[in-house]
Parts: sequence; C-alpha cells; structure tokens
Amino acid sequence: MDPYSLILTHNRKHLTRINEELGRALSSRVSLIEDIGSHSLLGHGKRLRPLLFVHCCHLCQYEGEDIYRLSSIFEYIHTASLLHDDVLDNADVRRKKPSANHLWGNHAAVLEGDFLCLKSSSIALGTNNLPFLKRVIEAATQMTEGQIMELTYTHNWNTTPDEYMEIITSKTAVLMSAVCACSAILSGSEPEVEESLSRFGLNLGIAFQLIDDLLDYTSSQEEFGKPVGKDLREGKITLPLIYTLARLQRLERDRLEGLFRNGHAGKKDYRELITLVNNDGAIEQIRDKARSYVDEAALSLDPFPDSAPKRNLLELNRYIIDRTY
Ligand code: FPP
Ligand code: MG
Repeated sequence: MDPYSLILTHNRKHLTRINEELGRALSSRVSLIEDIGSHSLLGHGKRLRPLLFVHCCHLCQYEGEDIYRLSSIFEYIHTASLLHDDVLDNADVRRKKPSANHLWGNHAAVLEGDFLCLKSSSIALGTNNLPFLKRVIEAATQMTEGQIMELTYTHNWNTTPDEYMEIITSKTAVLMSAVCACSAILSGSEPEVEESLSRFGLNLGIAFQLIDDLLDYTSSQEEFGKPVGKDLREGKITLPLIYTLARLQRLERDRLEGLFRNGHAGKKDYRELITLVNNDGAIEQIRDKARSYVDEAALSLDPFPDSAPKRNLLELNRYIIDRTY
C-alpha cells in the first residue's frame, strides 16, 4: 500500500473538514483569484500542515470549533510560498498538474500568492491572540529569509552541509514548527508544551525537506508529481550532491563544477551525475540522517501520555521517511 493511503484512510474525516475550509475562505469577488486558488489548493496536496495542526490541538485538549478554519492558515501560507517558489524556479509542474505560473503567467501567480498569504494573516488575526499571530508571521518571515539565502547559494558548489541545513530549516521546517507551536498557544498550554511541540514540528520539518531533496535524485516525475533532477538543473546544491562531491577527488569535483556551472552540461552529463549521486552512498546517508530527525521529533512527544492524537502525530512523523512523493 502507498504510504500516504494509510494517512488518508486514518484521517478521512479530518481531511474532509480541512478541504471544506480551504475552499470556503478562497472566495473573492475577483474570479481569477478563485480560479488560481482552486487550481493550486484544491484536489492534490497532502495537507500535512493542517493535519499536524488538528492533531496537535487535540493533543493539547483544544476542541474549539475553529480548529479546521485555523488549520487553513498554514496550508495557505504553504501554497502561497509554492506559488512564489514556482515563479522563482520557472517551474512548469506542481502537484502533478501544470503550475499556476505556467497556466496564468508569473504576475498572476505572484499576486495569488500575496492574496493567500494575506488571507492567512486575516484568519490568524481573527483569533484575537497576538502570540498566535506573531508566531505565524515570524514563521513566514523566516521562510522568506531561507528562500533568499537559498537564492544566494544557487550554483555555489562550495555550499557546506551546515549552510544547507540552515536553508532548509528556515524555508521549510520553521513553518512546521509554527504549525505545532500555534496549537499549544491557542489552547493556552504551558510554555514547556509549546516548546515540545515546536521541537516536534521543527525536527519533522527538517526530515521532510531532507527527503524532498533526496527524492529529487531518486524518484520519477510520475511518482513525485514534479520533474526529478530539478534541483541540479536549477543550480540548487542540495545535500545529495554536497555529500557526493565531498567524496570525489579534487580534480573530478572541479571538472564537474566547471561543466555544470558554465552551462556546458548536456542531458547525458545530468544523467551521469544523478547516477553518480545514486550509487555513491549519499542517499542512504541522507535517509539515515532524516530518520534521526524523525526519531528526535518522536522524542519531543515523550512528555505526553499515550492518546489517539499522539498516535496520529507519530504516524504522520513516520510517514515523512516512508513517503514517495
Ligand atoms: C519549496 O521548496 C519552497 C519552500 C519550502 C519555501 C518557499 C518560500 C518562499 C517563496 C518565501 C516565503 C513566501 C511566502 C508567501 C510566505 P523546494 O523548492 O525545495 O521544493 P520544490 O522542489 O517542490 O519546488
Ligand atoms: Mg522549488
């Protein structure tokens, strides 16, 4: 069974409510906003962030009716960031469909991202909970920092593992961390609870991006829903390549850098470099690293007694390693 099918089966009721809310807040008097919004948000999407939020709220014994509406804050920010990211990457495909920038152009895609981002802020503002709003806005700010940092490291073949980790922590993990911490803030939990959930989300988020970057070297477009080898083509030096380069002889490493940085690499060179990364042990090394972040995330839930929401969170956490798209 595909690993996500299990998540789908166990969370069907929550996913129905989440998807209803995502559709509801999308309404606008401008039809293009609704068209791009439905295309980008509805249908595909794993809804990991809303699911994490719902289960964390339940773990904190928060049972308010607004859980599902508030969960959309995080999917909106995530989708807004992907709309912008696809413009930056000039991407044609997202979530197994043509990307919004491909269908409607860069201008419309960026503005739709702005709309969703601001929509998420106004939903967060509706809580009248300043620490909640602060956490959401700080996460979105740090995502932008991470993305700009990634931009400055594009085509930098000397990117170190630490620099890479800093980028993925900011651009991806910080939002997952905010998702989980916000549930503790909303429920008025003790600071230790917020801290535990914040660490849970952060470690899960780091593992998520490690696997995302690994799948870019190992998966197929049919499975992954976006072209593979995309990072290398975009000049993104991610951990699979960083680990592989570190094991090469200086001369060979410099030859490859010259070939790819100067834009002289052809299809065959890309294929060969991807094969090299796949055969070099970097993939297993990264899977082990991701597993250690997932284990660390699970440890953060140790202070919570056994319960259905805790088991749901641990299942989502395990899924991060098993996922194939
Ligand atoms: C996808 O990663 C992109 C992100 C995780 C973050 C993008 C962040 C921004 C554009 C800045 C913040 C913007 C807003 C609206 C808050 P990836 O490129 O590794 O994944 P991909 O392969 O799916 O494109
Ligand atoms: Mg991208």
